[in-house]
Amino acid sequence: MITTNLSNQPDNTYERRTKILSMACIKPCETIFDAGTGDGFLSEGIYQKYPGKCTIIAADISEENLKNCKKRFDTINVCEDCITYLKTDLRNIQMSDNRIDVIVSRYILTHIIEKQQVFNEFYRILRPEGRLILNEPVIRMNTAFYELVDIYKLNNAQIFIDAEKAVRSDPGSPLTDFDPEILKNYLKKSGFNNIHVDYQTTETNYHIKDNMMEQWFTTFPGHGAPSIEQGLLRILSSANVQKYKNYLITQTRNCTVTVKTTDIYISTEK
Ligand SMILES: C[S@@+](CC[C@H](N)C(=O)[O-])C[C@H]1O[C@@H](n2cnc3c(N)ncnc32)[C@H](O)[C@@H]1O
Repeated sequence: MITTNLSNQPDNTYERRTKILSMACIKPCETIFDAGTGDGFLSEGIYQKYPGKCTIIAADISEENLKNCKKRFDTINVCEDCITYLKTDLRNIQMSDNRIDVIVSRYILTHIIEKQQVFNEFYRILRPEGRLILNEPVIRMNTAFYELVDIYKLNNAQIFIDAEKAVRSDPGSPLTDFDPEILKNYLKKSGFNNIHVDYQTTETNYHIKDNMMEQWFTTFPGHGAPSIEQGLLRILSSANVQKYKNYLITQTRNCTVTVKTTDIYISTEK
């Protein structure tokens, strides 16, 4: 476990990229598929590590993101043969079988509910013994709000704990429908071997002031997922949700809390 006190937070996005690329053990002349490239952050890291030596396929469903990826590469004057941009859906990749040496994928599965379909496609496009490296945040392993306060001082504490746990592991949202075991099972089902999981836990200290707790409670974590408040409203009465929110706000006001978030890194082989 890597624990970082982030009160003076370094940008650990680069740290994550370095870890993914070192796990990928890329060799010159390999073909790398950057699944869900976004603006090409991983592809850029690969290119910088092996300039001119690998073929990179930067793939994304979003035309806009691929344009930004191309812009990133235009500014570093990359040779044309080194990178191609592929607009494709990872659930149905527009590519023939057994073409790819290494797939790298970061923060993608949290967007896609059909995870088995994506792994089947990754397996199909990899050549035999090709590698897949994944990095994803696991929301289910993050610190819950009830862990930030003395929850048992609140009447009926257990209903709030159970409801928040249910929201944080909702199987209907791509953000929360998985943990490492679930991903391992999908991978095995697709045919992958030698599955290794590594964990990176980051602890961040926050001084709670103004309406920070309220914002956390009511803000969408992204990708159309409900906020904790909206999720709780599906389970508890609005009076109870209000009671829980007020308790969290009053108990954490002007306190420093430590929030733990966990990323997993998986390496596996066809
Ligand atoms: C959070 S971004 C991650 C970008 C990049 N991997 C990184 O590490 O910076 C998620 C990306 O996944 C792409 N994406 C989401 N669903 C997809 C799908 N079904 N097929 C292909 N790409 C998808 C989005 O367009 C977006 O660019």
